[in-house]
Amino acid sequence: MTDIRFQNLGPEQWKADIMLAPFCEGEVDLAQCPELDKAAPWLAVAPALRDVRGEKEELTLLHGHHDLSVPRVLTVGLGQRDTLDMEIFRKAVAGAVRLCTQKGFASILLPEPMLAALPGGRERLVEESVCAALLAVNRFPSLKKKLEKSPPEPEWIALGFMDDKPDCLHAAARRGENAATAVSLARELANTPGNLLSPRALAERATRLAEECGFACTVFDEDTLEKNGFGALLAVGRGSAQPPRLIILEYASGGCEQDKPLVFVGKGITFDSGGLCLKPAAGMGEMKSDMSGAAAVLAAVATAAREGVPRRIVGLLACAENMPDGRAMRPGDVVRAVNGDTVEIANTDAEGRLVLCDALAWAQKEWTPTAVVDIATLTGACAVALGKDMAGIFCDDAELVERIRAAGGTCGEHYWELPLWKPYAEQLKSEIADICHMGPREGGAVNAALFLRHFVTDGVRWAHLDIAGTDWAEKASPLCPVGATGFGTRTLLELAREDAL
Ligand code: BES
Ligand code: ZN
Ligand code: ZN
Repeated sequence: MTDIRFQNLGPEQWKADIMLAPFCEGEVDLAQCPELDKAAPWLAVAPALRDVRGEKEELTLLHGHHDLSVPRVLTVGLGQRDTLDMEIFRKAVAGAVRLCTQKGFASILLPEPMLAALPGGRERLVEESVCAALLAVNRFPSLKKKLEKSPPEPEWIALGFMDDKPDCLHAAARRGENAATAVSLARELANTPGNLLSPRALAERATRLAEECGFACTVFDEDTLEKNGFGALLAVGRGSAQPPRLIILEYASGGCEQDKPLVFVGKGITFDSGGLCLKPAAGMGEMKSDMSGAAAVLAAVATAAREGVPRRIVGLLACAENMPDGRAMRPGDVVRAVNGDTVEIANTDAEGRLVLCDALAWAQKEWTPTAVVDIATLTGACAVALGKDMAGIFCDDAELVERIRAAGGTCGEHYWELPLWKPYAEQLKSEIADICHMGPREGGAVNAALFLRHFVTDGVRWAHLDIAGTDWAEKASPLCPVGATGFGTRTLLELAREDAL
């Protein structure tokens, strides 16, 4: 992976194959950028600089003599200053880094003083530019026998600083690097085909990460699930040759072991065929990413542990493969969940809420959480309602909604609140069991959220994030190739880093 470095001795000492120079529209003026002038004095006589406008998505490659310490500059247009936001900034940096990679440049320099002149806050700009740069070069490891002839990733990306002591900016860069590592891990897991990533394989991966990053990982196999009453999770896994697993991640920094934990719960369906209520063939392949919620939880907890955030965190990954076979759950079956309630199953394709209800109940039985946040590719209805760029948030606690929306907003993961509309809970009544796991098609995302709420005790702070739709990119962008997006990972990581929750 591309290394992040620091060059601390001032612009005269900066050195790289290419330096990025971000400009707002109408502000391309060397006289206003003394650092740029010092790092690449040849720019003053580069005629092409006169044509650079700083328009959005404009990239101009300028060449100096090849044996200079900074022989090339790529100007990066950001558009008008008053319309510039973090989204535009991230995309611009990612687009620039991608171009540098295509050209085969091994080292790239980001001049921090030029970032500091932009709106958004110095530390955030550093964190976001590092994260964006790394996501731009990250690729899913190829499964092809013959490696494609694509240019290698840059060897390193350096932040160029003035000769002051920017400790907090180093830390910001490390946070950006860690965020990119987390998102890349979540994407890699969600892009991995179902046959290569079963619940067991995911548990093995989590166990390895636990050793590497410093947290505990416990895996419940079928016997343990049975003993502890996970009737709903077991029912979902029964139709598959791959047994279900509950993967429990526990992290606490020194001194926080007795604190109430923040609990994350992720839907971990390693493949969702729909079960006996089989999905149509078209698009079924995408359901290898039906464990995106679990991937986000694993990546966020592992990264928080690696960073040593000063708190206690529990992550629960509710993992199963939803398949049709002779042992599969049937529509009409009744199962018993961890909290003792019986659940009528109406449609085997609404499996996510079944694995989650057991995990939610377990979280409250085992711990006294400060808050529980679940994340799941739960309903097509949510994707229909909000589209591919915005996830649903369901939560009765207005303050928690704001916390999560703010955490997501800073890293480009947006949530829109949908209602836990109480009257619809009536629609989940069952003739034969304590509750039915689904209601009518209309309001499908709300009905699913209300089913989950049934398993959350009054007074427990809880939010449900429905990431169906946002978890998968149909089109490539500078920050993300086609496939799993890792959506939600950075939100959870931000929540873990905050000490307020
Ligand atoms: N994993 C799907 C939801 C989904 C759909 C995620 C599209 C990503 C993209 C989920 O298990 C499912 O199939 N839900 C059903 C529920 C219905 C049967 C009540 C749905 O949304 O159609
Ligand atoms: Zn399903
Ligand atoms: Zn599903």
